[in-house]
Amino acid sequence: MTNTILPFYQPTNKVVVRSNGFYQYDAEGKQYTDFDSGVWCVNLGHSHPGVLRVMEEQAKISVHHGYRFRNLQSELLSEKLLGILNLKGGKSVFLSSGSEAVNLSITLAKHLTGRNRILKTDNSYLSAYGHGQISDQNAGLLTVKMNDIEALSQIDFSEFAAYVFEPGTSFGLIRFPDPDFVDLISRKARKAGCFLIADEVTTGFGRTGKWFGYQHYNIQPDMVVCGKAMGNGYPVSSLSVSAETARQFEKAHFRYAQSHQNDPLGCAVALEVIRIFEESGIIRHCNETGSYFLEELTSLKNRFPGKIDDVRARGLMLAAELAADIDGESISNRLFDDGFVVGFKQNILRFMPPLTINNKEIDLLVGALERNLNAL
Ligand SMILES: Cc1ncc(COP(=O)(O)O)c(C=O)c1O
Repeated sequence: MTNTILPFYQPTNKVVVRSNGFYQYDAEGKQYTDFDSGVWCVNLGHSHPGVLRVMEEQAKISVHHGYRFRNLQSELLSEKLLGILNLKGGKSVFLSSGSEAVNLSITLAKHLTGRNRILKTDNSYLSAYGHGQISDQNAGLLTVKMNDIEALSQIDFSEFAAYVFEPGTSFGLIRFPDPDFVDLISRKARKAGCFLIADEVTTGFGRTGKWFGYQHYNIQPDMVVCGKAMGNGYPVSSLSVSAETARQFEKAHFRYAQSHQNDPLGCAVALEVIRIFEESGIIRHCNETGSYFLEELTSLKNRFPGKIDDVRARGLMLAAELAADIDGESISNRLFDDGFVVGFKQNILRFMPPLTINNKEIDLLVGALERNLNAL
């Protein structure tokens, strides 16, 4: 094979030739169980037959069109999504990636408030570029430590256009904010006229055992951003806003152009993803398998004191924090050799499999992890 891809990340030399459910196969025919759902995208499993069927059918009808037209798929999807998000009377727009939708939500919040700063918590990943990018150059972004209630009293919320809330940080560490913290920061933000934006790019679509991660808290966001699992691997994302935000938008003369806005193919795929979620009971399954997975990891932790320091989970978003001197990357590499794809960051192993995963696959993974910890 040639080697002409810019190396922004370092893949192995394995070539994926087929994906199906929670399995992926390389060119030598070796099977890998994907405990990372691609990049946390295929919550229904790779190449879900229902999604593939709709993709094919819609592609034959219409993939894309210009600004002169509307399409039925985007209207149906918006209505459906707004219902699930409890944003009835609101409006949505559909784009291609999480970063685009997060950036649009922040741009809109800045435009509507006339303010230039954004608040987020640490370890939260919002976007690859632009307003949400984590970088020293992004001076408008203030990062507050998750669950640090004291720190909130130092913040002048009236300077901020929005608080961007990630209900569970996927950026390697898998941490979930305390309800008291979320309650206080949201109330302070609202009182000062900041928008409350829920970034559901990773926590959305059942990952945490509810449709959306913010639904674990007693808050109702003004804007919700979705991506990743919304297209089950097909690139489609969304920004949905409340009725009040939509009213403000209409008065604000805010224009935004992007070629793949509201493309019918992505919208048809997302509609089918939602239909499968509603009909398959997959969120209940996620809660059951997530509880089993957590029990098994907790039992492993108890058998390996000094090697596993902590395990944490919400639904099928789990982490095993290894002792500080154990390199998560090397354990993740050994598991890959054993046929399991798991994420890592520093000494933390991350497990976010398709929500269709079952107890047998979890046993196999935990067994392989046990063997690798024994071999240390
Ligand atoms: C919480 C969150 N927001 C936004 C993004 C950006 O999404 P994308 O990579 O589709 O641009 C990600 C990506 O991992 C994410 O985890």
